[in-house]
Amino acid sequence: MSTIILVTGATGTVGSATVKALSALGADVRAGVRSLIKGDNLKRLPGVELVEINFERPESLAVAFTGVNTAFLITPFTADQVEMAQKLTDAAQAAGVRHVVRLSASGAEVEPGIQLGQWHRQAEDYLKSSGLNYTLLRPGSFMQNFVHQYAPSIKAENAFYLPMGNGRVSYIDVRDIGDVAAQILLHPDEHTQMAYTLTGPQALSGYEIAEVFSSATGRPIEYLDVPEEAARAAMQQQNLPDWMTESLLELNAISRAGYASGVTSDVQQIIGRPPYTFEEFAVTYRDCF
Ligand SMILES: NC(=O)c1ccc[n+]([C@@H]2O[C@H](COP(=O)([O-])OP(=O)(O)OC[C@H]3O[C@@H](n4cnc5c(N)ncnc54)[C@H](OP(=O)(O)O)[C@@H]3O)[C@@H](O)[C@H]2O)c1
Repeated sequence: MSTIILVTGATGTVGSATVKALSALGADVRAGVRSLIKGDNLKRLPGVELVEINFERPESLAVAFTGVNTAFLITPFTADQVEMAQKLTDAAQAAGVRHVVRLSASGAEVEPGIQLGQWHRQAEDYLKSSGLNYTLLRPGSFMQNFVHQYAPSIKAENAFYLPMGNGRVSYIDVRDIGDVAAQILLHPDEHTQMAYTLTGPQALSGYEIAEVFSSATGRPIEYLDVPEEAARAAMQQQNLPDWMTESLLELNAISRAGYASGVTSDVQQIIGRPPYTFEEFAVTYRDCF
């Protein structure tokens, strides 16, 4: 029986963490990348081969899924993400993949929910009705968003700006998502038709996060709660498309209201160690800030 594990979106935040975790566990990994050049670092890891995947090109999907035992389906944050997720599910089914793990988001099950949750729910429902064996991973907001989105202002102004008031969020370190995904991809039968909500060990407000960054960097870092209108104007200035601006503002609004503060023990249960704290994240990534 094949032991190949396919990871789509392998150059992305969660995909690369998962490929690293799988490689460290000695797995046979097929890293699905849009550009072979961009995947070069992954290719150097033991047990990892690259395959070119473009979600728009069905023939690339057919090749990538051939001979695959388990697959981790990761789609990007785009307006056509549901369609992409459906194409990936179809390709997994056509290739006879034994088990599919899908990267979803916390709150996907909440009805009616916010736009982001609705998109993930549609993709989850499609997978559920495909007849495939599956596991759904529903992480909360990533700690690494601070690296990718807020590091520039933290570096330049010692501050980050969010319209989230005193709302607490149970941010998760993406390295934990990678470790969880790797465990499930290697032992799928223990997680068939399950959904896990993945969170960090505690929920923190922007003010508490600023304190953590201050102590990790040795500089006074400030969190500034901004009105929603100011956040909208800033996103428009960065030329974000309207659908993205509005769905991010919706996410910020539910975070502000405290709906993103739940903490679960799913990470600990699956990988047998507690998830990383925000302090551990901030110290590891200190140089980015
Ligand atoms: N950020 C959060 O806090 C958060 C929280 C919960 C859930 N999520 C969910 O996480 C998912 C995103 O994961 P991520 O942050 O790891 O993504 P990411 O870092 O944005 O990476 C996206 C990956 O998809 C690839 N990709 C994009 N378009 C493609 C195409 N047409 N064909 C082939 N590959 C393509 C990208 O390739 P390139 O490198 O070539 O661009 C990249 O590898 C979304 O579903 C989001 O809703 C995010």
